[in-house]
Amino acid sequence: MSDRREATLRRLGLVPGVAELLWAALDEALGRAEVARRAAGEMPPAVVVLDAGCGRSSALARHRARIGRFVGVDIHAPAPGALPYLDEFATVDLCESRDAFPPATFDLVLSSFTVEHFADPHAALANVAAWLRPGGSLVLTTVNRRHPFVAVYLGMPDGLRRRVQPLVKATASDAHPLVGACNDPAALREALGATGYTDVRMASVGHLARAWRRRLPAFALGLVGDLLARSLPSRRSTLVVTARAPGPAA
Ligand SMILES: C[S@@+](CC[C@H](N)C(=O)[O-])C[C@H]1O[C@@H](n2cnc3c(N)ncnc32)[C@H](O)[C@@H]1O
Repeated sequence: MSDRREATLRRLGLVPGVAELLWAALDEALGRAEVARRAAGEMPPAVVVLDAGCGRSSALARHRARIGRFVGVDIHAPAPGALPYLDEFATVDLCESRDAFPPATFDLVLSSFTVEHFADPHAALANVAAWLRPGGSLVLTTVNRRHPFVAVYLGMPDGLRRRVQPLVKATASDAHPLVGACNDPAALREALGATGYTDVRMASVGHLARAWRRRLPAFALGLVGDLLARSLPSRRSTLVVTARAPGPAA
């Protein structure tokens, strides 16, 4: 984002952004996994992580030095060389491929801005729960349908939304089909509970202006949306969620 736009958001008190909340959640989850690995006699970096729906970049890259094995999956293969920090990439439909990994493979799974695209969010969350070690951490971000602009966007007929999507995305390749089947705090809590997660924690931030930052009109609209919902936590545009996989603490 241009420094001036970021400065505007900070001046208006729209901080922390989703990136800061996400990095803090990942830092905490990695810390917990490191303690568990040390307790099992494994020296760092031993933590095994998955970015589920990694797209073209991963917030976990920032923590690369703390990661022993870094796996990324997505329904689409990335451009060659796009994710140089990964040890492995696999093309996986998270809603389908329970067999993609053995049970209890990962200490930590990040799934960032993906749930809104899943055709079957319950199946995807259940698959990830199975791949996590007991007590391992899921960190996810998604858009919140309780924000009125998000509700309008997710509620648009597919054809219209396909036309609008490139206007608010950086490139056409960032405009993925949207489903929005599990995109409000209550639906997400229900889905996480139904698939066995515990210790669910949910924070919200205004993220529209940052997400729509590239074109000034979209940035301005996002800014209005973020300011409208600023004092209404359950209606802010973006959810940052942490949860633990079923079983004893890792
Ligand atoms: C908005 S992008 C987010 C990418 C990245 N996580 C980030 O935060 O920049 C959503 C990603 O989810 C992927 N995706 C959507 N449905 C999926 C599925 N069923 N299985 C795996 N990946 C999926 C898309 O291909 C896309 O890369």
